[in-house]
Amino acid sequence: MKKKLKVLVLFDGTSPTSLDQDFSKEMKTKDWKTEADVMAALGALGHTAEHLAIFDDVDLLRQKLETFAPDVLFNLVEQFRNNPGSDQNIVSFFEMQGRPFTGCGSTGLTLCKHKGISKKILHYHGIHVPHFVVVPRGQRIGRPKQLKFPILIKPVKEEASYGISQASFVETDDDFRERVGFIHEKYNSDAIAEEYIEGRELYVSLMGNVKLTVFPIRELVFREVPPNEPKIATYKAKWDEEYRKRWGLENQFIEGLDPSLVADIEQTCKRIYRLLTIDGYARIDLRLTPDNKLFFIEANPNPILADDEDFALSAGKAGFPYPQLIDRIARQGIKTLRD
Ligand SMILES: Nc1ncnc2c1ncn2[C@@H]1O[C@H](COP(=O)(O)OP(=O)(O)O)[C@@H](O)[C@H]1O
Ligand SMILES: [Mg+2]
Repeated sequence: MKKKLKVLVLFDGTSPTSLDQDFSKEMKTKDWKTEADVMAALGALGHTAEHLAIFDDVDLLRQKLETFAPDVLFNLVEQFRNNPGSDQNIVSFFEMQGRPFTGCGSTGLTLCKHKGISKKILHYHGIHVPHFVVVPRGQRIGRPKQLKFPILIKPVKEEASYGISQASFVETDDDFRERVGFIHEKYNSDAIAEEYIEGRELYVSLMGNVKLTVFPIRELVFREVPPNEPKIATYKAKWDEEYRKRWGLENQFIEGLDPSLVADIEQTCKRIYRLLTIDGYARIDLRLTPDNKLFFIEANPNPILADDEDFALSAGKAGFPYPQLIDRIARQGIKTLRD
């Protein structure tokens, strides 16, 4: 029997929090499903799990570490003071304290968050990425001539398709300038404009540090979207059930791929994971063109861990039932060597 662990699960606080704050009410809501699922799994495994939500006070964490002395921090933090740009800074704090924690280290988080930097690294190593340009706030540059329409314009660092709608897809210079301005002003964010890659939308989940496991590939299908329309996992496409039903959007295990192509995709994803210095677990978003060319879109270290999301479903199919998956992530966190 493996040793039972003391696990401190860290949540996002959306307003100032206190030690031993009760979140049982929140955890019954949809927004807190991941937190509830992870706590339930740790309990079912027989570990001693406590939680702490962080808003902006890292001293709470210091105090909790003293009184509870956990074996590992289970990191579900995605923001600091409601700023999703700061997740890597919290992880830097764990690293400075020399505390074992789950998931990805600060360097991997930082490289993956920037949709331009990650693509530059991968392109250098021969992995296909869309041509792109980053347009910083304060600059109103137009489209560089080498960048071909159609183009997709996104905030350079957001997650969960914030700032991505059908209007992100542009086919004229006027629309290009307008959408870049919109991202600058409404999202207070630099913009990235990428050539739109036509093809199937793939999600590949991986876990591990030195030795990597790739789980079965998922695909987002756009069943009712007409063939000539752009197919984009917009904010609505991800989170609005009505919208998903109307356009026949479904996340499912991929079908109809040649086994040798699947093996190639797995190898490429392992390379991506290592090149971006990811550790822990991640989901990589890709596009597969009609002539089977694989394009990197984005890497998500620490993807959503709810038991009904792509990462856990892929792991489940590979023979990791949810509690075992959570156990594996916690124990791997303890063993990870950090810089
Ligand atoms: N260059 C691109 N070509 C085609 N589709 C894209 C491209 N970039 C993004 N998308 C679509 O937009 C979605 C969200 O983009 P992504 O970069 O993954 O942002 P987020 O971090 O918000 O998930 C992708 O899942 C894909 O459907
Ligand atoms: Mg994505």
